[in-house]
Amino acid sequence: MACCQDLVGLNGRLAVRSLDVENLGGWDLAVLLTTAVLGALWLLVDRGIPTSFQQLEMSPSALAIATPPIDQTADVDGPRWQCNDALQKTLRERGLMMLHGWSDEELFRRALKVEDIREGLNSFMEDSNILSGTQASLRCRPRDGGNPKIAFMFLTSSGLPFAPLWEKFFEGNEDLYNIYVHAKPDWLRYVGFDGSMGIFWGRVVPSGNTNRAALNIVEAERRLLANALLDDPLNEWFTLISESCIPIQNFGYIYSKLNATNVSRIDCGYFPKSRLVASRYGVRGEGAMLPEVPLSKFRFGSQWFSIRRRHAVAVIRDTKYWPKFKQPCRRIEACMPDEHYVQTLIDNADEGSCHGTPTFVSWNGSVGGHPQSFGLTDDLQLLIDGMKTQQEGRYFFARKFRPEVLGSLLNLTDLLFR
Ligand SMILES: *[C@@H]1O[C@H](CO)[C@@H](O)[C@H](O)[C@H]1NC(C)=O
Ligand SMILES: *[C@@H]1O[C@H](CO)[C@@H](O)[C@H](O)[C@H]1NC(C)=O
Ligand SMILES: *[C@@H]1O[C@H](CO)[C@@H](O)[C@H](O)[C@H]1NC(C)=O
Ligand SMILES: *[C@@H]1O[C@H](CO)[C@@H](O)[C@H](O)[C@H]1NC(C)=O
Repeated sequence: MACCQDLVGLNGRLAVRSLDVENLGGWDLAVLLTTAVLGALWLLVDRGIPTSFQQLEMSPSALAIATPPIDQTADVDGPRWQCNDALQKTLRERGLMMLHGWSDEELFRRALKVEDIREGLNSFMEDSNILSGTQASLRCRPRDGGNPKIAFMFLTSSGLPFAPLWEKFFEGNEDLYNIYVHAKPDWLRYVGFDGSMGIFWGRVVPSGNTNRAALNIVEAERRLLANALLDDPLNEWFTLISESCIPIQNFGYIYSKLNATNVSRIDCGYFPKSRLVASRYGVRGEGAMLPEVPLSKFRFGSQWFSIRRRHAVAVIRDTKYWPKFKQPCRRIEACMPDEHYVQTLIDNADEGSCHGTPTFVSWNGSVGGHPQSFGLTDDLQLLIDGMKTQQEGRYFFARKFRPEVLGSLLNLTDLLFR
């Protein structure tokens, strides 16, 4: 991962630096502190620091040690913490697979701060005409930075059965994407991390439980967005992927489609007459969504999206809609905030910017509100061909596939990525 650009605004002076891992000496106190922590980590490593999550769980202090100090000077000097490559590298070398060890509170504090500073930089750059460009969030990319990237955010409760297929999909596009994994702690406990996760190694974000229909799914989405925003200023598209989801187009196709417009790919349907939507709307109690969210503003759509950076920022900054959606639901099965919250927020905050989910799903023979899932008895070649061409190739991904079809799919990569 080529994360090493650091945007530093000092008294209005603007500097874009690269953190040289070998040359930390010139950095200020905050970096010295980080270095000290790395040193402490190093000592612990030699004494046998845990090398798997399971061991980590048995010794929570290890995670605390892996956590960089809260950088007070950063409030003045800019988002130094964004350049956490050195720390990540050390964690990785030492066999820890987490991106960092911050609490949610600390994560959001940092992510919001970075965005505030970026916007400051934006206006500075605009004023002085340093960079010209049309897309707000592209204006402040580091001067020596590369192309905007797609943040692939894997939200899983059971594992990553299609990891080998994703690896093939990503091959050759190393500078154009980042990976983030939110994994149910139960799963992490059992999988035994031994470095065999390939490109997913070191990309797990501190995660919480996730349950169908529950609020904690949206909490996981927000956590993923905050991590991806903070991790790399070049992340421009934030794409949510489930464990049963596969890519059905090649990387270049998806990238160029995303890069061709400035909209988000998300469903923000409006169904004022639907009884289902009315019951979802009312599930927190009569009037509970008012006045911020009248029924006319309530949106419905697939959880699986690919949203723009400005929308990802809107989600983590939001203090208007989230308190409404966060209220407890009276019937959990009608709660489903993952099909309403982000959809409602984006459509109301930035009208006309929802352009439909990028993820194909089939509701044929749906049971218990679950979509159709494809297995060994299905004609995958025929199905995939149909999914790829449907509506002029508007779908980039498809679900749900059962884990046992991995082998068959690996045999179909010519078709998948043609
Ligand atoms: C982005 O798209 C929206 C909606 O299509 C449009 O109104 C807006 O002008 C665009 N912004 C830029 C910076 O291109
Ligand atoms: C993305 O789109 C911009 C503006 O249309 C274009 O200049 C740029 O070359 C595109 N980037 C890539 C990597 O295709
Ligand atoms: C779902 O059913 C429709 C109508 O019977 C059919 O045209 C379509 O191909 C089916 N889709 C899948 C993915 O099986
Ligand atoms: C994949 O293709 C190979 C070579 O044609 C074949 O031997 C194998 O059985 C196929 N695997 C699956 C799961 O279809």
